[in-house]
Amino acid sequence: MHKILVTGGLGYIGSHTVVELQQDGFDVVVLDNLNNSKLEVKENIEAITGKPVDVIIADVNDSKALNDLFSSHHFDGVIHFAAHKAVGESVEHPIKYYHNNITGLISLLGVMERHKVSNLIFSSSCTVYGATKDLPVTETTKIQKAESPYGTTKILCEDIITDFAKHKEFKSILLRYFNPVGAHPSAKIGELPLGVPNNLVPYITQTAKGIREQLTIFGSDYNTKDGTCVRDYIHVVDLAKAHVKALEYVNGMKQHVDVFNVGTGNGNTVLEVIDAFEKVNDVKLNYQIGSRRAGDIEQIWADTSKVSKVLNWNAQYTINDMMKHAWAWQKTLK
Ligand code: NAD
Ligand code: UFG
Repeated sequence: MHKILVTGGLGYIGSHTVVELQQDGFDVVVLDNLNNSKLEVKENIEAITGKPVDVIIADVNDSKALNDLFSSHHFDGVIHFAAHKAVGESVEHPIKYYHNNITGLISLLGVMERHKVSNLIFSSSCTVYGATKDLPVTETTKIQKAESPYGTTKILCEDIITDFAKHKEFKSILLRYFNPVGAHPSAKIGELPLGVPNNLVPYITQTAKGIREQLTIFGSDYNTKDGTCVRDYIHVVDLAKAHVKALEYVNGMKQHVDVFNVGTGNGNTVLEVIDAFEKVNDVKLNYQIGSRRAGDIEQIWADTSKVSKVLNWNAQYTINDMMKHAWAWQKTLK
């Protein structure tokens, strides 16, 4: 494993993964259409690693551009991040999501097959487990019908990869992320949400910065220790490192497809996240309790024994680190 293509490598999780790959000695080529990222992320990655990043601005749906790229490089593996990810938007614009997330994957698999590139790491999500009662979730927890077109794209992509790999010399790892948060400790890269954030942590940091007036906690009447929802928040740098471990493992694995939960194994309530943010940063947050958000599940967190045992990966950062780094990053943004 030497040369890796990272689709969506200028995005939030992709950029952190490119840093870890470069720091681990991989030669990285990024393909991104800048749909949800900015070209300046390239310079920020380079500022961290001191190594140039080869960036191709193209759409993963553009088979000709992909073909040209695969003709001019020999890739040992691909990490496929490029996708749309806003759950609410996917309900309003399902075709946009099915097109980008599913057709994009099919386009990529076709070109990988043609050029005999046979290792793929795919970004999946714990959303595939839905509102399960089976907690913590293991990789064998039943997949449920998705609550949103976005969730459906993740389930379908997992199925497409599994079907594709069955009859080919093809190996793939599906990583089911829990809730990625935080930013690089250097504060040079982080999440760049467009418009009003949907996710908790960017909403917290934007409220602390004064960009948003007040955070609303979506419900305090859940059956959890303080009534607010529980999630398994994972530092984006830990998540990025899991991709490096997956790449090191994928080629030699016996089966065609394997799947891993990537979380910390700990659940935190919304109030615990806010408390950690306030304490570690010595900032008071303006928040109120509001009503439940439609579609939210009460609680989910990961059983991480498989990823720990097989990939030898464990999360290192704490919820305090996540809040510290998220705030340091927010302070750098105008
Ligand atoms: P992101 O939007 O920050 O990054 C995605 C990148 O892909 C962006 O740079 C975007 O410009 C690019 N892109 C999108 N469509 C493209 C296309 N057709 N061609 C080329 N580039 C394209 O998102 P992220 O948070 O880094 O998520 C990365 C992956 O992880 C996605 O597949 C997402 O569904 C998955 N995921 C994210 C989360 C999360 O909470 N962030 C959770 C679970 C899974
Ligand atoms: N929350 C608030 N106020 C806000 C935003 C969020 O109280 O302003 C709460 C939510 O109700 C939830 C928790 O904070 O209880 C986390 O919400 P996020 O929107 O940050 O994350 P979700 O768990 O809802 O969704 C995330 C990703 C999805 C992915 C899902 C499962 O955004 O893309 O995890 O992987 F599908």
